[in-house]
Amino acid sequence: MPATIPVTHFKPTTRLPSTRPMSLTLYLADWFRRLSPFTGTTLPHVATYTRELPVSMARMYENAIDGDHLPWLHRETFTDMTISESDNTGWRGQGYLQPRSFTTWMELELRLDRENHRWITTTTRGLGKGSQVITHAIPLAENRIKVVVDFYVPKLPKALHKMYGKQLVDTYTRLYDQDLEMMRTRQRALDIAASAQPDSNPARIVLGNRTGLDSQLPLQFELAGRPYRLVRIGDKLVAHASTCPHRLGPLQDAKVVDGQVECPWHGYRFNVISGECTSGQHGQLPLAPVISIDNDEVVASSEENV
Ligand code: FES
Ligand SMILES: [Fe+2]
Repeated sequence: MPATIPVTHFKPTTRLPSTRPMSLTLYLADWFRRLSPFTGTTLPHVATYTRELPVSMARMYENAIDGDHLPWLHRETFTDMTISESDNTGWRGQGYLQPRSFTTWMELELRLDRENHRWITTTTRGLGKGSQVITHAIPLAENRIKVVVDFYVPKLPKALHKMYGKQLVDTYTRLYDQDLEMMRTRQRALDIAASAQPDSNPARIVLGNRTGLDSQLPLQFELAGRPYRLVRIGDKLVAHASTCPHRLGPLQDAKVVDGQVECPWHGYRFNVISGECTSGQHGQLPLAPVISIDNDEVVASSEENV
């Protein structure tokens, strides 16, 4: 008789951050706050969020200055956010917090102050108008920083500080989870690209038996140290680079729709056969290995692409 393994119910001791970015109560409270005739000369501080991140300052600044990722990487929080102005000192964008409605429209402006290792995000119009989020990034080691994020909301009665503060900290926890994943993935991709040795020899790899391979698609593989993915388009097996040419975003889990993949970081779309960018930006998927059948085996080869 096999031994009976006692089942212990999982009792979480931690709380999952809320999945809804803002509650209805908060929307209503914000309307009242903005309508309030009271004006103060100071911005009340409502909360602080701190976190150590295993990333470099370069990655963190790059992330802060990149407003275009908001509606893609943070799609549960922002939607239809358009960056109308940007340069390497900041950006301004207009869009909605989720769920999209006339109450959730906002305009955000971010100013990066590299000299003081900080950036200031101000809500200049709409929901949250007048709020400021001041983030200081403190370098701890080459690839380790600490962020200290302070939230300020004007015209806010003291009784509402806790509710606003909690909502903001929950939201920023989720945003930083997603940003951290993005920054680490990008750093890994940059490291791989930097360490790759130029190799002019043709590379070849057998991916599997033709009859058994379909059940494994989409299939990740590497050739000459670079990541690719094998997919089926109609009756053809096609390989495509699984790193986005824009900022090295991950394409390995992107769905193929109408022969195109969409990058989850900024929404660039690419035709997987031609590599062409079909969403209007510049860029092209790197050349992918040629797929052929050799003795009933599916082979990926860089031979014809060298
Ligand atoms: S990394 Fe920006 S669209 Fe892919
Ligand atoms: Fe972000």
